[in-house]
Amino acid sequence: MLLRSAASILSPYFAESPAQLLAMLETPPHEEMGDVSLPCFAYAKIRKQAPQAIAEQIAERVNADRSDVRAVTAGGYLNLFFQGGHWRTEIVERALDADYGRSDIGQGKRVVIDMSSPNIAKPFSIGHLRSTMIGNALVHLYRATGHKVVNVNHIGDWGTQFGKLIVAYLKWGDKAVLDREPIRESLRLYVEFHQQAELDPGLEDEAREAFAKLEQGDAETRELWQYFIDESMKEFQRVYERLGVSFDSYAGESFYNDKIAPVVSKLEDLSLLEEDDGARIVRLEELNLPPCLVLKKDGSTIYAVRDLATAIYRKDVLGADEILYVVGAEQSLHFQQVFSVLGKMGYDWASGCRHIPFGLMTFGGKKMSTRRGKVVFLEEVLDEATDRALRIIDAKNPGLAGKEAIAEAVGVGAIIFGDLKHHRQLSVDFDLEEAVSFDGETGPYLQYAHARICTLLEKGNYEKLLKQTAVDGTYLSSDSAWACIKTLSRYEAAILEAVRLDEPFVVAKYLLSLAKDFNRFYNSGKILADGVSDAEIISKLSLSAAVANVLKQGLNLLGIQAPSEM
Ligand code: ARG
Repeated sequence: MLLRSAASILSPYFAESPAQLLAMLETPPHEEMGDVSLPCFAYAKIRKQAPQAIAEQIAERVNADRSDVRAVTAGGYLNLFFQGGHWRTEIVERALDADYGRSDIGQGKRVVIDMSSPNIAKPFSIGHLRSTMIGNALVHLYRATGHKVVNVNHIGDWGTQFGKLIVAYLKWGDKAVLDREPIRESLRLYVEFHQQAELDPGLEDEAREAFAKLEQGDAETRELWQYFIDESMKEFQRVYERLGVSFDSYAGESFYNDKIAPVVSKLEDLSLLEEDDGARIVRLEELNLPPCLVLKKDGSTIYAVRDLATAIYRKDVLGADEILYVVGAEQSLHFQQVFSVLGKMGYDWASGCRHIPFGLMTFGGKKMSTRRGKVVFLEEVLDEATDRALRIIDAKNPGLAGKEAIAEAVGVGAIIFGDLKHHRQLSVDFDLEEAVSFDGETGPYLQYAHARICTLLEKGNYEKLLKQTAVDGTYLSSDSAWACIKTLSRYEAAILEAVRLDEPFVVAKYLLSLAKDFNRFYNSGKILADGVSDAEIISKLSLSAAVANVLKQGLNLLGIQAPSEM
């Protein structure tokens, strides 16, 4: 916002349009250097003058023309200080709007986001949790910038693991237990299968046969398959509800069963398929990639060809301009291969397919392995976080009404923020105690900052006062108030940057700096002190309300709730 104002202030003195100037403006690294600065080096050639001389000439004219900004120069930079109270009023009033920070740069663009995508016969892993949380934040961020988003849960409901599960269930399964605890029991069966298969390799053949029966549509096998899916989905749904995540589509891998044959024929028509030891592959040597396996020796389809069919469907039927795959970094090669094959098939839209990889997450250094059954159960993590949050609330504010629901919002929010505050590609070792703490760079710290402002507004009778008294930015001239307002003005830029990089952490970090700036302002002097005028109180409360608004909107973008009491 400030940069935009600076561009229009300066445009009368330059041949460039405000939009062109905007692209050249910078935010100085230190407050003392100014609020916005324009490097004048680019003009030196055009005007055949030294950058510093150009800066000085413009500064002189700006200072003669306006009293609400002060221009100074340093080493070829023209630096602007915004002095008038009206700047402060404008930014605060704008930041009070419910749609503040939203833009429409994505208008007319349709983005499909492939996220979460757990595998039915295996448990919901921490990797799927990260995909769910990062994906959900991206859904909100893309929507906030005007994109039309379709988020798809590409459920892993097909593949050889079903053969294993079916064999294990028929041999060692117990329906009553499976009804009660589908995911745990599926996991137990899955682990048992792998243990037994080490002793008896024949089991692997049995599993292959069972999966082949499923692919051929054998009624009994299909019924069992459907049962596993229905039960697991119920359990996943519980987790999604707790995380506040919903999907536009649950078209999983099996949805593409009848869409694969046309892809294989097209590959054949284009002479892209080659035989390799009985299997069919697409060579990608010219791209320095290993070949992409399309059909196995026994003719069964695999993951890669499903993803070819999936992408084509998303383009043709869902009308996707971009397709984002929020999937762990370990699948990078897979996606490179899939996108490359699409390119070789002549689909130029393949350039709009992007893998959004993320790193591993461990809990206290513990990795997970589905095969060995060493699994951190997601619901247990959420329960534990919620319990800890409740203990903290009990200590701080024992009389709080509805504290269970608030503890849930805080516990779940702690997990989400603990993930999203990192560059997604980094591996995260999760420390629950740290994540749930109300101090430090945590979700609860931001939620608490928000709730505290809500209490302050209540105490100050903000809504009522606002109807009677106007905001006057001259009361917001202190260094700490102005720093906070400047941070407020950067909210839209933070969202745009997060979208440009597909990195929710940009917004997470932004919110932390906003909360810190606000605390500095809040601690610099009592707002509701005796003898202070209504105009001063309402101005400071409005700044507080604007910060609360942005904290809440920003947390919501990340998929985190912001209770008004804690
Ligand atoms: N179910 C897969 C897994 O857990 C992730 C699917 C990602 N999406 C896709 N279109 N391949 O590994």
